Amino acid sequence: MYDVYEIRKDFPILSLEMEGHRNAFLDSAASAQKPQVVLDMMKCVYSHEYANVNRGNYYLSEMITEDYEGAREIVRGFINAKSAKEIVFTRNATESINLVAASWGRKFLKPGDEVLVTEAEHHANLVPWQILRDEIGFTLKVIKIGDDGSFIWDEFQKLLTPKTKLVAVTGMSNVLGTILPVKEICAKAHEFGAKVLVDACQLIVHKKVDVQDMDCDFLAFSGHKTYGPTGIGVLYGKYEILDSMPPYQTGGDMVDRVTYEKTTFDLPPARFEAGTPAIVEAIGLGRALQYMQELGMENIEAHEEELTAYAMEKLSAVKGLKMIGTAPGKGGVFSFVVEGIHAQDLSFILNKEGVSIRVGHHCAEPLIHRMGEESVARASLGLYSTKEDIDQLCASIEKAKTFF
Ligand code: ALA
Repeated sequence: MYDVYEIRKDFPILSLEMEGHRNAFLDSAASAQKPQVVLDMMKCVYSHEYANVNRGNYYLSEMITEDYEGAREIVRGFINAKSAKEIVFTRNATESINLVAASWGRKFLKPGDEVLVTEAEHHANLVPWQILRDEIGFTLKVIKIGDDGSFIWDEFQKLLTPKTKLVAVTGMSNVLGTILPVKEICAKAHEFGAKVLVDACQLIVHKKVDVQDMDCDFLAFSGHKTYGPTGIGVLYGKYEILDSMPPYQTGGDMVDRVTYEKTTFDLPPARFEAGTPAIVEAIGLGRALQYMQELGMENIEAHEEELTAYAMEKLSAVKGLKMIGTAPGKGGVFSFVVEGIHAQDLSFILNKEGVSIRVGHHCAEPLIHRMGEESVARASLGLYSTKEDIDQLCASIEKAKTFF
């Protein structure tokens, strides 16, 4: 039994009043709140076992190295990777994607090759490929989406050719909530010999992700959206692919032998973790993923599906509100505009009512323009969101309308 009101007690910030109102935090797609167990774990590590990892054969260093590698194993289990060696700790999903572009992309992409992205990408899965295209001279093609934000299979197939070397797609749009058929995309792309990178930043928060079942070649996500700390992210890569890639950054703890003349590099994942990593953040991320597992991904999914249906119904009933992104089966991200109210003004008024939402282009400027808008408001759900949050949102929008 998923008791969301009990679960909310795990998140100290949710009980704080905002501007004298109940805290309706509806910006989890930007960054999620943290449960007490994550905060406790990080404090405990700093207080009782802090030292650097992989560098000392004394008690504290050995203990924290064990916990850091333990976190890697938790991530492995969470996404069902074959081996913990396929899990690289990065700073966030953005860095994970930049790592693939700078390392795999620079080594394997050539002029004449093609890389596919969709119109629904976050800047993090578009700009690195544009920069690399300008450097290498391959072709970057954009798969069109439908007016409701749907992924259109025929548009994908139309662009997929033997020249396609990489398909880099979001698993779930941070603006539209559209969930893409990533498993099918991987199977089709592989028929053409292309690799697939999945930006799972939003997807992994809301749906069970199994990289072996999906058969993606790379998958990226951020810790701060999965109820963990900031400054830590994950790149999953199939081991043989990671092993074929040169280092992304160089320095300590990623080398095999170093002389003044030359350097040889360590195996993955160490090859991609130069310098002192975000040790306590990785351990915090591990605890956050365990917390999600304790609640049960299927329970989180069921709760959010029910709440998504409720939110769609309630928001659609608000006169003058236009939803941006209504693809069937979409997840709990609701972008909208309200007739006669600029999104910035709307968020200002909502804030005064205790409702936190994000406005703007949500780091997906071309997508916002593709949807015919300049700026949109966005409410997004977390595992702690409730019907009261949605009711408070709708009531605040009604109140905002009275000012204009
Ligand atoms: N990518 C994050 C968002 O969608 C920051 O808000």
